[in-house]
Amino acid sequence: MSRACTEAVHTNATARKASSAIGFLLVLIAAMVPLKILAGDVVDEELNSALRDRPSLLHGEALFDDTCIACHGPDGGGQPNGSVPAIAAQPSNFIIRQLVDYRHGRRLDLRMEHSTGRHRLVDAQDIADVAAYVSQLLPTQAADVGAGDHLVEAQGMYARACVPCHGDSGTGDAGSGVPRLAGQHWEYLLRQMRNVTANREGQRPTFPREHAMLLQRFKDADLIDLADYLSHLGQARDSGITPSPAASGTNGQRP
Ligand code: HEC
Ligand code: HEC
Repeated sequence: MSRACTEAVHTNATARKASSAIGFLLVLIAAMVPLKILAGDVVDEELNSALRDRPSLLHGEALFDDTCIACHGPDGGGQPNGSVPAIAAQPSNFIIRQLVDYRHGRRLDLRMEHSTGRHRLVDAQDIADVAAYVSQLLPTQAADVGAGDHLVEAQGMYARACVPCHGDSGTGDAGSGVPRLAGQHWEYLLRQMRNVTANREGQRPTFPREHAMLLQRFKDADLIDLADYLSHLGQARDSGITPSPAASGTNGQRP
């Protein structure tokens, strides 16, 4: 074979290899698309089933003691420095959604991804059980509160922008799964708000976009004050703060 000819053969072989590699990739992508859809279906199925299942509080307590207590504490109050959130008294549908999200990489945190794996929570029933147990724990008070410098201003911002969903006392809404913010640790609240407003991709991808946009309208100093106000809620007797007077009554999951 002439040199030109060998080169041509070589080029052909390379081209064939390249095209078969592309072909293989296309087949792979084609195979993955339905898999991805399937995976999404499986996650939704698990979520819906956990939301539907009749929970067993007794079994939920056993799961909580085995796994969650180590970080969230026996009263579900989290860690005093705010690194681990309070979860006591959160609406059970909110808890279920978060557990399913962590379990399937829709909310990222290594500790929670590990704690919600199948070796911990076997199926949707386990998720429903532990969520029901946590949601009936009594609300805790934040050990980690802010400086308390602008509580009145923060109360005004909260009343204008947050009360319709999170309620005048920050107790959330069990019906629609809006989380309780009252008594949550200052550091945790601020970290979550900074994460979603800075659009730190991936950490909490299911967080509603409109909500992130609402929080983006506030300056960082306002977020600090909002977190401060919310962390103080539930400590009304000690701090002299009363719940926001706006919109009364419809949201209270707990008084
Ligand atoms: C190893 C420590 C650890 C264990 C064990 C653990 N958690 Fe968590 N949990 C965390 C941390 C840290 C976060 C905050 C992660 C983040 O920033 O997204 C969290 C977040 C959560 C949240 C979201 C709270 C919110 O307000 O958004 C829920 C709900 C929750 N955990 C429930 C549980 C349950 C139920 C268990 C037991 C099955 C459990 N956790 C076990 C550390 C832990
Ligand atoms: C339209 C209803 C709505 C409004 C208004 C609203 N929120 Fe929320 N908020 C939600 C829902 C729903 C979630 C849960 C999102 C999820 O599932 O990830 C949430 C989550 C949060 C979280 C994360 C809590 C946690 O435990 O992980 C914070 C912090 C928060 N909101 C603060 C605020 C503040 C501050 C305001 C006012 C400036 C506000 N929200 C206004 C509905 C609302």
